[in-house]
Amino acid sequence: MLEVRDLTVRYGGTLAVDRVSLTLPDGPAGLGLIGESGSGKSTVGRAVLRLVRAQSGTVRYNGADVLGMRRLGAYRKAVQVVFQDTEGALSPRMRVGSALTEVLRVHRLVPRGAEAARVVELLADVGLDAEHARRFPHELSGGQRQRVGIARALAVQPRVLVLDEPTSALDVTVQARVLELFERLRERHALSYLLISHDLAVVERLCERTAVLHRGRVVEEGPTRQVLHAPQHASTRTLRAAVPRLPGV
Ligand SMILES: Nc1ncnc2c1ncn2[C@@H]1O[C@H](COP(=O)(O)OP(=O)(O)O)[C@@H](O)[C@H]1O
Ligand SMILES: [Mg+2]
Repeated sequence: MLEVRDLTVRYGGTLAVDRVSLTLPDGPAGLGLIGESGSGKSTVGRAVLRLVRAQSGTVRYNGADVLGMRRLGAYRKAVQVVFQDTEGALSPRMRVGSALTEVLRVHRLVPRGAEAARVVELLADVGLDAEHARRFPHELSGGQRQRVGIARALAVQPRVLVLDEPTSALDVTVQARVLELFERLRERHALSYLLISHDLAVVERLCERTAVLHRGRVVEEGPTRQVLHAPQHASTRTLRAAVPRLPGV
């Protein structure tokens, strides 16, 4: 459903993404994007989201030319993002319930008066209680804030989630539970994940296929098990060596 072809992004003189091609099928599905820091992973995600401008290449969503789109409204609903930085992503002065209500209003997703009930539903979907609607972000744990970020993304009923290091800011036990949530949501809402991570265990859990970026280029792509357990490229082997315990090894 999402097709990236020969995507190239420069920041001034820096060639951050160099002719990258990727295919993300209809959900439930997951494509992992791994690579060392600075390899261009986030830039690919931002270009797909139209948050940075691509120099060349194409992004197609169900056949439509994303980079040439004048009106992004429908695309912005279909393709949502969850960032690592849960603190920066939520307004500190806004209660969780208000933040979610705002999304529902902006996109006119439910009739006026039905918003509060929908907020409770969204919170339940990510494993939070109705009571959390009254809290401010600083009154939540990191894992709870990440769940609110996910609920906000889900509010518009997206088809694709770009997940940029979605568990990297969380400690290990919390990470495991957020991963479970991502697994569950993927099936329940038939979501496609473009999962950016340097954590190979996370990719292994949520993605059937994985691409490896090295200096802006895809150097390897294939079934996740194959890429992680029988890596062909030296940079994949380096990434693997950096992981103390990869499940299944
Ligand atoms: N806003 C920016 N301005 C200039 N250079 C950037 C910017 N964002 C990223 N870069 C550079 O682009 C390259 C790819 O970065 P990034 O996509 O963030 O990699 P990753 O997510 O894999 O760590 C790096 O060399 C980085 O320094
Ligand atoms: Mg990054």
